[in-house]
Amino acid sequence: MPNGNIIIKNASELVTCSGFRAKCGAEMSDLRVIDSGAVVIRNGVIQAVGPSGQALAGVDESDFSVIDASGKAVLPGFVDSHTHLVFGGYRAEEFGWRLRGDSYMEIMQRGGGIVNTVDATRKASRQQLVDSGMRRLDSMLSFGVTTVEGKSGYGLDRDTEIKQLEAMRELNRLHPVEVVPTFLGAHAVPGDYKGREDAFIDLLITDVMPLAAAGGLSEFCDVFCERGVFSIEQSRRLLLKAREMGLKLKLHADEIVRLGGAELAAELGAVSADHLLQASDEGIDRLAAAGVIATLLPGTAFSLREPYARARTMIDRGCAVALATDFNPGSCFTESIPLILALATLHMNITTEEAITAMTINGAAALNRAETIGSLDVGKQGDLIVLEFPSYHFIPYHIGVSTVEKVIKGGRVVFEKTAAKEAI
Ligand code: NIG
Ligand code: FE
Repeated sequence: MPNGNIIIKNASELVTCSGFRAKCGAEMSDLRVIDSGAVVIRNGVIQAVGPSGQALAGVDESDFSVIDASGKAVLPGFVDSHTHLVFGGYRAEEFGWRLRGDSYMEIMQRGGGIVNTVDATRKASRQQLVDSGMRRLDSMLSFGVTTVEGKSGYGLDRDTEIKQLEAMRELNRLHPVEVVPTFLGAHAVPGDYKGREDAFIDLLITDVMPLAAAGGLSEFCDVFCERGVFSIEQSRRLLLKAREMGLKLKLHADEIVRLGGAELAAELGAVSADHLLQASDEGIDRLAAAGVIATLLPGTAFSLREPYARARTMIDRGCAVALATDFNPGSCFTESIPLILALATLHMNITTEEAITAMTINGAAALNRAETIGSLDVGKQGDLIVLEFPSYHFIPYHIGVSTVEKVIKGGRVVFEKTAAKEAI
């Protein structure tokens, strides 16, 4: 039978997250769950979704591989829309320093932090970045991630930024998880540009961005807009140029200090504003009005012991919220989707339904892909997960532990849990 033809039937809960655009405010609560549901995928594309009897009517099952998902919940594959997955070296010692009381920004200001990873990433070959990237994508896939965003930003020079983006292009070729590349050259100020941040922005605009934007090597441009890193004015200048070069925009905004990053994201019509721990009420309202996705990263707040972003307020004020891991070697070294969903529900006062919307259709919207992934709708890519448990409620409830039994990408089974098959 042709590859990419698969039927998943009798799912105790078929969580469709149905929709073709970001869900805002109260819309985030509706997961559009179908009891005893089925999905028919032909040539990698969803052909029918519904109660099993209805979806399978007139379908010749002998053309398909068939998975009986009785007693199991089925959801769209997770979309992790903010990660820094390509890097050299690790910063385990920094975790210990933070436990002893040093702050993330103090470590950065004395030449550690991001710049430490920059040294290791400059030394790594492209192949080494691909090899470690493959292992990380394997781990992400085991948590049910079918599409992930990855940022450059550990080069801060032309060759290394491009090496990171090329590594992502290669990962896309080799690994079933789709990697959406973002150019984050303005992630930190390299040592030789300290005090000359404007000159560094000039360098990025003239020497690096044109290469990063060429031939789809990146789709988005992002910037760490933060006191002591890049100002509002510098961020605006960089992002306006990025837009001219055809890139879509993202910002690390209002993470540590309330600088007005949310307002800038709304002004520029960015696709997403990320972190937002310190976003003001005004900033939140502007994000909602401008349709900018508020991408929240509770793993980072947890890991840095910072207060969580105000997810409840954002949803109540009409924002579309996405959740992502922020997987990176410094502020949040985890690829665990269930941990993020547990933190979001337990500490950000949002419901499991809202959190799942934030990890699926709204994650897809944060990558400009709400029309092709992020929900189980006819015409979308056949990306889905089968859980070991009968309900989506088990995802945050089984804290930090993956409940994913199978992952299907483009109609093919690309991950299957080999150990204990029975739920314990
Ligand atoms: O999203 N805030 C800045 N950048 C990353 C951290 C990167 C790192 O520490 O290596 C973040 O948290
Ligand atoms: Fe980040």
